[in-house]
Amino acid sequence: MDYKQLIAKTVRIEGVSEQEIYAAVGVPPRRENGEFCLPCFKFSKALRLSPAAIADKLKAEIVLPPEIASAESVAGYLNFKLDRAKLAERTLCEIAAKGETFAPHASNGKTVCLDYSSVNIAKPFHIGHLLTTAIGGSLYRIFGYLGYRAVGINHLGDWGTQFGKLVSAYKRWGNEQDVAARGVTALNELYVRFHKEAETNPALEDEGRHYFKLIEEGDAPTVRLFEWFKQLTLEEVQKVYERLGIVFDSYAGESFYNDKMQPVIDELAQKGLLTESEGARVVDLSDSDMPPCLILKKDGATLYATRDLAAAQYRHDTYAFDKNLYVVAYQQNLHFRQVFKVLEKMGRPWAKDCVHVPFGMVSLEGGAALSTRKGNVVWLKDVLATAVEKAGKIIAEKNPALEDKAAVAETVGVGAIVFSALSASRIKDMVFSYDKALSFEGETAPYLQYTHARCASILAKGNSAAGNASGVDFSLLCDDETVDVIALLGRFESVVAEAADKYEPCLISRYLLDLAQSFNRFYIDHRVIADDAAVTNARLLLTSCVKNTLKNGLALLLIQAPEKM
Ligand code: ARG
Repeated sequence: MDYKQLIAKTVRIEGVSEQEIYAAVGVPPRRENGEFCLPCFKFSKALRLSPAAIADKLKAEIVLPPEIASAESVAGYLNFKLDRAKLAERTLCEIAAKGETFAPHASNGKTVCLDYSSVNIAKPFHIGHLLTTAIGGSLYRIFGYLGYRAVGINHLGDWGTQFGKLVSAYKRWGNEQDVAARGVTALNELYVRFHKEAETNPALEDEGRHYFKLIEEGDAPTVRLFEWFKQLTLEEVQKVYERLGIVFDSYAGESFYNDKMQPVIDELAQKGLLTESEGARVVDLSDSDMPPCLILKKDGATLYATRDLAAAQYRHDTYAFDKNLYVVAYQQNLHFRQVFKVLEKMGRPWAKDCVHVPFGMVSLEGGAALSTRKGNVVWLKDVLATAVEKAGKIIAEKNPALEDKAAVAETVGVGAIVFSALSASRIKDMVFSYDKALSFEGETAPYLQYTHARCASILAKGNSAAGNASGVDFSLLCDDETVDVIALLGRFESVVAEAADKYEPCLISRYLLDLAQSFNRFYIDHRVIADDAAVTNARLLLTSCVKNTLKNGLALLLIQAPEKM
């Protein structure tokens, strides 16, 4: 039960939607004024009344449901006091009924496609991919939890002249054993060397083009090399995906669309949408204030956008999506606006269901700028390894007797990295710092995991049938600190729904931090294992609900919560 929602449903204001009221509901700064408030100045303009007059009017008209004890008009605010025992009962019973692992909602019959991570073959999986991977992977779980069929798609960058260059570099300087042993690292070195040598030896570029042509023509030995490079890259990224708990339903990358673009090109031509520009074929988008969308190069080669048009069509045909999301950096804003506009011009009504979910850039605190070509990149697997190593040291110091230290360090280290990617609004650029990410006191995954483990240890000490709501006296859960925790617990479902709505996993991160902080405040003031058995019982139920909510919320953020830390 989300009480904010209940208030939004209870208050009726002409010309103002329930969502607007929901968004306005806040928490009064002073506890004695109640648990929630509605600041009425927000509606002054719409109603042409003073805030105080609005609050008075609402108070006079309102019909309170049993869960709300009172509504008072105070200085332009409508302040609500809840029936605390009822709040506790409804909220905790609901959560206890979900058990330790919250089952996903019943299917809503809707499908959402999510294009995320979408790595490039033979290039390092570097820290720049952290955001798309974490945000996309988390949204995949969030939509799945809410009853959608989620389709995770890794739109591999596996086509383009760079693969010809790579073949050329491999033939010149490569060595089979070395590439087999060192995989993408070796491939990336070859790629970097190619660009370096090409600066003084322009003939290399021609050679690269020649090999790419062979790939295009299906020349068996060249294609075999290319497929091998692809497989090596996939093996490497899959190791990282496994550690992050990321899954994909499809690895259909750019090359998959080689034979699926012609119908799109034909249709564009047929509908008179293709125009010529300096020998290239483009779709003019000047009526939408955008540069033209490039479809075919002078030499007839297709482009990134051509592949995305074919891919969108393919996804629609294959999955009949209700939503088609692209979790891709904001640098590609224009690209997606162009692609969606072309789909619209082609008369696809579902163009409006295609959404670019952009995000900012990641850099390492004190780190150098990233450049794949020059080879100074920070590999994601190295970032994970460093974080896990540091987590291991912290754990060894804080809790030397802990069993299974290595497994916990993995969970804490990886969790810290993922959480730092998911804790700020996605569009913000992010400067990553190991120390901040791994702090047990800051706004971090370890802090949440630690709070979860604290709950687990309290429950272990309480050794009752914790989590069982029957027989609990809810009137014992009415003090301020407890009510704060309970009100937050009641918000879980609506926070998850909002995160899906806005494509912002960070709303869940923020929420879990609030929940953990509020539980820890409660814990400072109250003993869970108290002298009174009834009080103990009630607080154990509360603790178990907090534990399970933290655990399930973290899971939506791809983070595991160990029982002990
Ligand atoms: N591989 C691309 C890159 O690294 C991202 C692909 C995003 N997805 C897409 N359908 N365009 O920039």
